[in-house]
Amino acid sequence: MPRVKAAIIGTGLIAGKKHIPAFLKHKSKVELAALCDLNQAAAQKVASKFGIPRTYSDIGEMIEQEKPDIVDICTPPQTHVKLAIEAMKRGCNVFIEKPMALTVEECDRIVDASRSAGVKVCAGHSDLFYYPFMEAREMVARGAIGEFRGMRIFLSTPTNYMTSQENHWAHKLPGGVIGETGPHIVYMTLAFINPVRRVSVDAMKILDYPWSRYDDYRINLIGDKAISSVTLSYTTDQWAARLDILGSKGILTLDLEGMYLINNRRPTLKPVPVALSLLSESGQIVQNLLSKSMKVATGRYDNTHDILIERFVDAVANGTESPVSAEEGREAVRVLNMIVKSLESD
Ligand SMILES: NC(=O)c1ccc[n+]([C@@H]2O[C@H](COP(=O)([O-])OP(=O)(O)OC[C@H]3O[C@@H](n4cnc5c(N)ncnc54)[C@H](O)[C@@H]3O)[C@@H](O)[C@H]2O)c1
Repeated sequence: MPRVKAAIIGTGLIAGKKHIPAFLKHKSKVELAALCDLNQAAAQKVASKFGIPRTYSDIGEMIEQEKPDIVDICTPPQTHVKLAIEAMKRGCNVFIEKPMALTVEECDRIVDASRSAGVKVCAGHSDLFYYPFMEAREMVARGAIGEFRGMRIFLSTPTNYMTSQENHWAHKLPGGVIGETGPHIVYMTLAFINPVRRVSVDAMKILDYPWSRYDDYRINLIGDKAISSVTLSYTTDQWAARLDILGSKGILTLDLEGMYLINNRRPTLKPVPVALSLLSESGQIVQNLLSKSMKVATGRYDNTHDILIERFVDAVANGTESPVSAEEGREAVRVLNMIVKSLESD
């Protein structure tokens, strides 16, 4: 089968850290032919680091010259709709980093453009492809913790990632920094609670950066029969991405970056069963920490973008469904906008 041809637009942080390595990892299936950035000097620097043959500063010219099957959009969210529609009109399938766009109306235009051009869209909902998250979804679906009853998400993004940087584009998003990392907590919730009917939000400004509106959020995403409670913090120098998933017969505890999942069961508080459940939990933690941390440390795990990008390449090559559809991207934007609207009405 001939290789799929891809090109990336936007050669900043996520392109260099995740997308380019993912395409190169799967080079038997996909050729990464070119990079494009408004700042062509920056694109050239990245291209020479990774050995990508050609660079451009204009998406139209890049598509004209390269005729890629996939255009991978790694630019700030404010630019996604325009670039995606331009690429789709020229017959390219598009991978669009999260959030897919800023508004539901923009998402509708992306959905319409993909239907009329007959091309595929993949929204970059990468955290769905952490191994513990995929395992938890599969366990909940087969009833391993009984009936799903709700969830809790704790996400911490270091202050210097966006909050302390006055010129970071995230401060210009609707809602500010929550517009950048908020999509993760929304689409992870939607994997278990869909539809989300309403939201409640408390937000606080703890740090003194005048350009940043809030840096600590407590959010409830409320479905028909379950709630996802979220803590989103931007006030420390720590990364964290942890979840608890509550079932009628067990609780899953996930550390996404640590790549572990613990299955907790404690149906009674009698001393012997509590001691046994502690033994089981510590056994799982030790086993996870030993085997998984070695794999994480030595890079023997595919990261989330490796998995998602490979699945999209396969979908394009085989004419099968995108791993994260434009409709899913749209729904995440709808719920994120409910959160932002709730903040604006404060
Ligand atoms: N899935 C994840 O875990 C994850 C993590 C980080 C960022 N992201 C997303 O990836 C996207 C990019 O984020 P980033 O942190 O890499 O941004 P960045 O600022 O580091 O890089 C963006 C690049 O796009 C270029 N650019 C801007 N407008 C352009 C245009 N119209 N045409 C061509 N190039 C243009 C800029 O010059 C810059 O080089 C955002 O949507 C962000 O939310 C996703």
